[in-house]
Amino acid sequence: MRITVIGTGYLGATHAACMAELGFDVLGVDIDERKIEQLAAGQLPFHEPGLPELLKKHTASGKLRFTTSFEEAGAWGDVHFIGVGTPQKPGGYGADIRYVDAAALSLAQHITKDALIVGKSTVPVGTARRLACLVQEKHTGPGTIRFAWNPEFLREGFAVKDTISPDRLVIGIEDRDLDAEAILREVYASQLAAETPMIFTDYETAELVKVAANAFLATKISFINAFSEVTEFVGGDIRTLADAIGHDARIGRRFLNAGVGFGGGCLPKDIRALQARVSELGLDRTMRFLTEVDEINLRRRDRVVALTEEILGRLNGATVGILGVAFKPDSDDVRDSPALDVAARLFNAGADVNVYDPQGNANAAKRFPRLNYVDSVPAAVRDAQVVILLTEWQEFKNLHPEDLNGLVANKIIIDGRNVLNVQEWEDADWTVAALGRKFEPSREAIGLNAPV
Ligand code: UDX
Repeated sequence: MRITVIGTGYLGATHAACMAELGFDVLGVDIDERKIEQLAAGQLPFHEPGLPELLKKHTASGKLRFTTSFEEAGAWGDVHFIGVGTPQKPGGYGADIRYVDAAALSLAQHITKDALIVGKSTVPVGTARRLACLVQEKHTGPGTIRFAWNPEFLREGFAVKDTISPDRLVIGIEDRDLDAEAILREVYASQLAAETPMIFTDYETAELVKVAANAFLATKISFINAFSEVTEFVGGDIRTLADAIGHDARIGRRFLNAGVGFGGGCLPKDIRALQARVSELGLDRTMRFLTEVDEINLRRRDRVVALTEEILGRLNGATVGILGVAFKPDSDDVRDSPALDVAARLFNAGADVNVYDPQGNANAAKRFPRLNYVDSVPAAVRDAQVVILLTEWQEFKNLHPEDLNGLVANKIIIDGRNVLNVQEWEDADWTVAALGRKFEPSREAIGLNAPV
């Protein structure tokens, strides 16, 4: 079976390389010539553990090829996965699905044999059914086109594992389209052999499963962060609270890490797109709670900025050392990154901001070039009046006070991800302000050596 993957961004490049790893002949398709050249040369344009090895292995073996030609893809492939982006519309909350439409319709025009088109992108409910009809209208060549929707749940940093061994597969198909079902059972034979749950359903359910999962995860994070606002006020320990409720198997501990909140290319835009879509459908009230989820999330960033100002007295002229700028560890992605947002806001308030991220500096510099990007922890914290940890890379979790002593101007650290051993740092005379913990030491207690 020959597989094409349209769109070679994060999702598409991963899917293409993993399908080759599973033994299929794969053709990756993109309109971006530079990206295609890079990928064809075995170079991955983003950071993802394990993926460069697969890309090199299969471009070398010839199982994985790349092209910009839809004509070639339509004539060659049996199964066409669509994994193009659906970014937030500029100036609105809805998802911009023009790239999905364009990919499906270009394919339909060029398909010249029996084929199955499988959408993987995250789309507003109703997109699959609309496209399934449009594809038939556009397709005038020989062969029959079938259509399915198979949302992707991969997490950055675990993309290879999540693709090869997903925790579930969800596939929306047209009523009783047993041929489409049989083809996808063949594509995912290795996952089926591993007893991965495979749920066949209608288009609408498949589309909604994806946004429901992301809305639930975002809600869980904002839930614990809302409690952070309470513990910051009355005292209490947000980590213990999360551990304690997490022991209830109905709740579970995962995604209850309080901190500067969620970001990335999925959660923020997906909860906004879901609200926009249900409003379009006339169900205005239904997803209104997601506005709160979004607002709680954004207030965490305000809190870090306010805390920094509270500690230093003023931001203008302050020297701040920022650890982490990616939206999460093991990623170089800075899309809607809380860390980059905080860093940029401190800069805009007049602070000198030194930033170090093990992988994210280059992408952050493209979006916000005016920060001072440096290549190590010592360089970031040198002369800092306050250090702010915003992405929980292992390198930062492993830090001990003695690694920073002698470099910083003041022994003050804001733990924006709740990963430091507060006792250890306080025992070494550091002032630790962690999100979700009450912070009220007097300015004398903070012991500013280099006041602003
Ligand atoms: C997410 C979904 O997990 C994935 O299933 C979907 O396909 C795409 O969106 P991803 O964007 O890679 O994946 O990141 P994820 O690991 O979900 O983290 C999202 C954000 O939430 C990050 O900014 C992370 O730092 C934050 N987060 C996560 C918390 O603030 N607290 C937590 O407890 C967990």
